[in-house]
Amino acid sequence: MRYDSITEAIGNTPLVRIDPAVHGLRHIDLYAKLEMLNPFGSLKDRAAWNMVRPGLAGAAARGETVVELSSGNTAKALALIAGLHGLPFKSVTNRMRIPEVKDLLLLLGAEIEELPGQSECLDPTDTDDPLTRFHQELARPGSSHLHTDQYFNPLNAEAHARGTGPEIIADLDGRAPDWFITCVGTAGSSTGVASALRAHDPSVRVVGLVGQKSDFIPGIRTLDEVQEVGLFDPAVYDTIEGVGADEAVEGMVILLRRCGLLSGPTGGAAYYGAVRHLRPLDEELTERRTAVFIVCDRVESYLGYVRRIRPELLGRPPARNSVATLTEAEVRAAPSVGVEAARAWIATGQPLVVDLRGPFAYGALHIDGSVNIVDELFDELVRGGLPFSRSTPVLLACPVGEQSARYAALLTRMGHPDVRSLAGGIIAWRDAGAPLVRD
Ligand SMILES: Cc1ncc(COP(=O)(O)O)c(C=O)c1O
Repeated sequence: MRYDSITEAIGNTPLVRIDPAVHGLRHIDLYAKLEMLNPFGSLKDRAAWNMVRPGLAGAAARGETVVELSSGNTAKALALIAGLHGLPFKSVTNRMRIPEVKDLLLLLGAEIEELPGQSECLDPTDTDDPLTRFHQELARPGSSHLHTDQYFNPLNAEAHARGTGPEIIADLDGRAPDWFITCVGTAGSSTGVASALRAHDPSVRVVGLVGQKSDFIPGIRTLDEVQEVGLFDPAVYDTIEGVGADEAVEGMVILLRRCGLLSGPTGGAAYYGAVRHLRPLDEELTERRTAVFIVCDRVESYLGYVRRIRPELLGRPPARNSVATLTEAEVRAAPSVGVEAARAWIATGQPLVVDLRGPFAYGALHIDGSVNIVDELFDELVRGGLPFSRSTPVLLACPVGEQSARYAALLTRMGHPDVRSLAGGIIAWRDAGAPLVRD
């Protein structure tokens, strides 16, 4: 294979059958589409190249910077492609949560601008989110950026409608699979592949996977973020199911240890979600069927993530005091307090108010007198034991009250007698018109 440019090596990734002895499905052949074998390391190589290619010559002539709202694989692919064409690349994102990716982007020469917003997924309806505001600015005429706009750009989905989907059909000897199971971030890959498969055979069923409510799986939406944004159209999916971060890692470990696939967490989530969805259907089947899931990227960037969720996989002691060990019943029973009651409590009981958000969000607006311990650091602290004396009442606050509920449940289990979660989080506090201060 000889190429004039590395971009010519994008696409034509292998489709590999998973050994039935591993997944246990008796009537379904399960295949992994190995998108991590794209040259820049992920399925985003296709979208990045398809989106940026038409604008490269003009951007070079005008001395523009390639810019994208991405904290992961799209940024990585664009940084490499921009460098290849002598252009600067800037990644704009709300808080980069995977430090290995941030370091890699810096090494690739990218400029990184971290904003004080909440979610990784763009929400244009949230006009307070700086990411949304930045996105709007980029759309104004006169911007000196080549903005690839992955959440809205139809060329994102088109890359998969023309490449990934038809490749799957060709590798299945001209047939579409019966099921296509995939994780949903911008929705470009799922939308594009689904359209190609359904054009070939309308009966294909499409299963979209997202992170469980407050679970962070790098690169994809959570159930809370399943809203119609940009390319994301709920009608593309026959069903959308949640996968927990621990389940994603469990699926990833099977791909790593039993299948020879160096998959990252979303590949693990896709495998786990596929087998969970297909198992009950398999029992009813008498004829052979086919299912395909996507392995989006590789594992190496996520070792810190694995260390946090399943430290024992990396030879460290299992995390006893970890939110990952909570049951749903424990989380439901977490002590919480609404905004008005919290204000009264702060006025009279003087709890220590701990804000678990990122430092930028905290700096922008926070409850007066609160301390900022970002969730990752809080997680570390709690692992070592109760971080506060039992005699100090504690009010925990996070963006929407989900994370704080988990930590309130955990600290309660660890023996703290008076820890409460701010119901609805800082958003509810703000919406109730309660005072917030700025650094
Ligand atoms: C690791 C990972 N997996 C899956 C996806 C989902 O891809 P899409 O944006 O096409 O929905 C992404 C998207 O960023 C990703 O980074």
